[in-house]
This record gives sequence, C-alpha cells and structure tokens, in this order.
Amino acid sequence: MKKVLLTVLLVALLSVALFAEKTITVAAGAVGIELELARQAAAEFEALFPGVKVNVLDTPDMVQDRLGLYLQFFEAQSDRVDVYQVDVIWPGDLAQHFVDLYEYGANDYVPNHFPAIVENNTVDGRLVAIPWFTDAGVLYYRQDLLEKYGFDGPPETWDELEEMAHVVMAGEKKNNPDFWGFVFQGNAYEGLTCDALEWIASNNGGTIVNRDQEITIANQNAAEILEQVAGWIGDICPEGVLAMDEEGARKVWQAGNALFMRNWPYAYALGNADDSAIKGKFDVAVLPHGKGESAATLGGWQLAVSKYSKDPALAAQVAFFMANYDHQKARAMESYNPTIKTLYQDPEVLEAVPFFGSLYDVFTNAVARPSTASAPNYNEVSTLFFKAVHQIISGQSNDALATLEELALDIAAVTGFEPVFE
Ligand code: GLC
Repeated sequence: MKKVLLTVLLVALLSVALFAEKTITVAAGAVGIELELARQAAAEFEALFPGVKVNVLDTPDMVQDRLGLYLQFFEAQSDRVDVYQVDVIWPGDLAQHFVDLYEYGANDYVPNHFPAIVENNTVDGRLVAIPWFTDAGVLYYRQDLLEKYGFDGPPETWDELEEMAHVVMAGEKKNNPDFWGFVFQGNAYEGLTCDALEWIASNNGGTIVNRDQEITIANQNAAEILEQVAGWIGDICPEGVLAMDEEGARKVWQAGNALFMRNWPYAYALGNADDSAIKGKFDVAVLPHGKGESAATLGGWQLAVSKYSKDPALAAQVAFFMANYDHQKARAMESYNPTIKTLYQDPEVLEAVPFFGSLYDVFTNAVARPSTASAPNYNEVSTLFFKAVHQIISGQSNDALATLEELALDIAAVTGFEPVFE
C-alpha cells in the first residue's frame, strides 16, 4: 500500500520537476467557511510541493447553480478545472466525466472512510470521487428560550415544534418583531428536496422513488405533512423562508431571530463564534417526526478528478491530500462532518463539536435521496420534486395529493419508472 502511495507521489513530484510550475484548479464550495478551509489546504499542498500552484475556484452556493457551471465545463471538455467538489447525489449522474481514482492510488485511503459513502461514489466498480465531508439534516434550537418558556427540551414531533414556536413567538415578538419560530431551506432548489424528504420520510411517506425504481411520492402521508408545512408559512415561519437557502436561514438564526432552524452541521461552529448573537445559547438535536420516525437527509461532498484534466495524477494527489485525516480533522473542528470513521472518536473533535458523538447514529443512518435509483436523471427528478413541493408549501397549489399525483406522472415521463398510486 505504502509503496503505491510513494510511487504515485514520486511520479507526481517528477512531473513537477520536469515541467516546473504546474497549476491544479479545484472547484470548491463557499457555504459557511468552506472556501477558507479549502484555501488553507491548498496553501499547505503548495508549501509541501514547491512548483505546484493550487487554485481554489469559488462556485455558487446553490446546488443546481453549481451543477450548471460544472456541466458547462464538461460539455466543453474543459481542462480549466482539475478537481471538482461533488455532491453526494452526483456520482451517478456525472460519473462519465471523472477518472477512476483507484487508478491513482485510492486503495490506500478508502478503508478509512464510511463504506456507505464509498459505495455511493463507486459507479460500475470505478471510484469516481473520494469522500470529503458528510452531512445530515439536524434541528438547531434555542436552549435559553425553551427554558425561559418552561419547555424541558427540543420538540420530538412536528406538532410539538409548532406548539413551542407559537408560545415562544407570542412572548418574544413583543420586543423583537423580527422574531420567528422556524427557518429552513424553502427556496425551490436542492435544499428544499432535502428538507421535504425529511418531513415526508418522517411521516411514513417514503423517499420519492424507492430502491425498486417505483415512484412512491403520490401518497396521503406525504400530502398531509406538506399541507402541514404550508400552514407554517406566515404563521411560525416568515414568508421569506420560501426564498431561503442554507446561508439565508443561518443569517436569520444567527442574528437571534429564530427559535428553531433546520440546517446541516456546519452552522454549529459559526453559531458559536465570537461575533454570533446566539453564542452558547443553542444546541442541536435530531429533527422532529410526524407519524413515523425522525429522518435526516444524507448530504455531503466529495472530491473528483476531471477526465479532461491535463494532469490527473497530480490532481488526484491534491484531492487525496485535501481529504486526508489532518484536513478532515481541521474541518471537523469547524463542524464539517468527517467521512473518516475514527475522527468521531477523537477527543479534540468531540470537545469542539459534542453532537458529533451524541448524534453519531443520525449521521450513519441518514436517509439517501433517490440519486442512485434515478441516475442519470436524478437532477431532473429532484427538480420536478422541489418545484411541486414549493407550489404546495407556498399555497400555489391547494390540493397537495393532486399535485403529487401529477408529479409522479412527470417523474415517470423522465425516468420510465412506474408510479404507485394509493
Ligand atoms: C448540503 C449537502 C448537499 C445538499 C445541499 C442542498 O450542501 O451536503 O448534499 O445537496 O446541502 O442544498
């Protein structure tokens, strides 16, 4: 194993020596402090390997916008980007544009990562991306305010969340008219797919398309919970939630203007930073549930090497380096979930982010979006889904089940899968 690694490094170094200054460009995200963390890792690589320049390209926050940019590069078979930060839902849709990392020494790294993510990133036996960080939806709650209004702990059901929000809002709005009960990712984009999957799965409404490629979304439990969410808008959630992404929700929350927020773990470290209005006043719990069990959508990002890169061997070394133990640890300290299992037992990590320990099961049992089942059409399926959900929760459609039935037919037209109607 070590030998393979050494050989690959030597080859990389030799090519550096032969061709002097080389540049590897990494297309990365900028949600929270992601960009800063990626730039730090890039600078460390440059310091270790003089002669290599690692550029970090800032890409749009919203998943569909980022995908749009990547697709332009792929269509042009562009060598402008060597390493792409890819969403956990993309390996199936985008595999053809990436090299097989096993050909560049990935065997040395793979055993340390969660097997389910490695499996997700393996398409036809090819490892198309190395896991970088994982994600799962969690509930942020204001511990101070729940205590102030006599509640023992965070809500276990969506109904309880609603009740608590009503009570706390009635009191807090007197001094702060901008105060709301709940914010989430309600814009019409991939983030809404994640949030809606959690509501629906936690109400026994399934996962849109099941593993047997049946379209299961047109069901009463799904319709019922989406109608409940529609009732929250303008009541416990601001109208503006319908345009919020992760960062939009975090800004409202971090300014102290919400009792609850659904978000990914990255918002924890930022919420506890010195400039945060809610530092030390909040905690993180499992999301509430409806008539089923709590569900957290599986998210997360990987690093993939473009087939169109001029130097895939060097690009692969940059990807492995950025996703290695030390960098995942540095990121874990900023509450980005590692994909390397042992980091969840690291005392420093657990001290910085205690819920990485207490919610470990949430991270390992997160519910996957149907990206493998619908590949290579996942993005289209998800787009149809979040548009339909947005129509329902914004009140543009007032018959949720009928909208979900239409959605099922639209998904059938794209995928050729069978819809199941109740
Ligand atoms: C987070 C998740 C990603 C998901 C996105 C939706 O970045 O890690 O998997 O697609 O949010 O907005």
